[in-house]
Amino acid sequence: MRMAGLEGRVAVVTGAGQGMGETFAHTLAAAGAIVAVAEVDPTTGRRTAAAIEEAGHKAIAYEVDVRDSSSIGRMVDDLVARHGRLDILVNNAGMGAGGPSEDVTEADWDRVVGVMLKGTFLCSQAAARVMIHQQCGVIINIGSIAGVGGWAQRALYTPAKAGAIALTRVLGVEWAQHGIRVVCINPGQIETSLNEEMYRRGLADREVFQNRAPARRFGSPAEIADAVAFLASDAASGIRAEVVTIDGGWTAWGGIEELVGV
Ligand SMILES: NC(=O)c1ccc[n+]([C@@H]2O[C@H](COP(=O)([O-])OP(=O)(O)OC[C@H]3O[C@@H](n4cnc5c(N)ncnc54)[C@H](O)[C@@H]3O)[C@@H](O)[C@H]2O)c1
Repeated sequence: MRMAGLEGRVAVVTGAGQGMGETFAHTLAAAGAIVAVAEVDPTTGRRTAAAIEEAGHKAIAYEVDVRDSSSIGRMVDDLVARHGRLDILVNNAGMGAGGPSEDVTEADWDRVVGVMLKGTFLCSQAAARVMIHQQCGVIINIGSIAGVGGWAQRALYTPAKAGAIALTRVLGVEWAQHGIRVVCINPGQIETSLNEEMYRRGLADREVFQNRAPARRFGSPAEIADAVAFLASDAASGIRAEVVTIDGGWTAWGGIEELVGV
């Protein structure tokens, strides 16, 4: 059996200063990867990298805005200069967004879709230029179950995630010939400050969301991170251009459970 070891692999995790990205960075580093913490907030980015190093693993922080190809390019060039390669990219950077669609501004669109769709593409493109040269690599996009449905009041978030899912398929098919696997994880509702902010702003209700999940609980960042480590490893060599849903059964919920008392 092939193990999910990532010894010596060079990985980038975007938005790794907090939340799921922080957990992904720790998990990949603990599996042996050298992790680049690509974060727009330099304080949280440096904090994550320092904590990984303190735990005895390898990490380096880069101040990166995923909407800006030059900041992505500087990071990738530096990683290649230091380590000669780039093996894993996790496109995780994002934010919550919600509210009546008629109130959405152009600036909101540019910010939310810019980070989660344009940013996913720009980082993938920069990574793939190295991976094509190597003829191997893995790109993991963090989508959302919101990207496969028609979630009301999510006119920014849902199209951005639907786009990330579509990119997974396009790039996964296109770059397969170069040994690059592109995959997507669609998490359900996960305990992070993103959702705390949504509850605080009245854009989601904690109790309603919790009761909507068949197991009546939210997911944890660690549950998604374990899947990231697996998908990044050679043990997942057969999975490409595909979406893995980790939502505790949310999307399987057919809609009559409440009527029949489940
Ligand atoms: N929390 C959930 O329930 C949930 C569910 C499904 C999908 N997701 C997705 O998972 C990802 C992580 O979510 P989270 O809950 O950990 O969010 P979070 O808000 O805790 O963390 C997001 C991180 O992305 C960083 N970021 C934002 N804009 C950036 C930019 N331009 N460049 C670089 N970094 C940037 C933030 O600074 C932050 O550190 C997001 O893409 C989110 O949409 C979250």
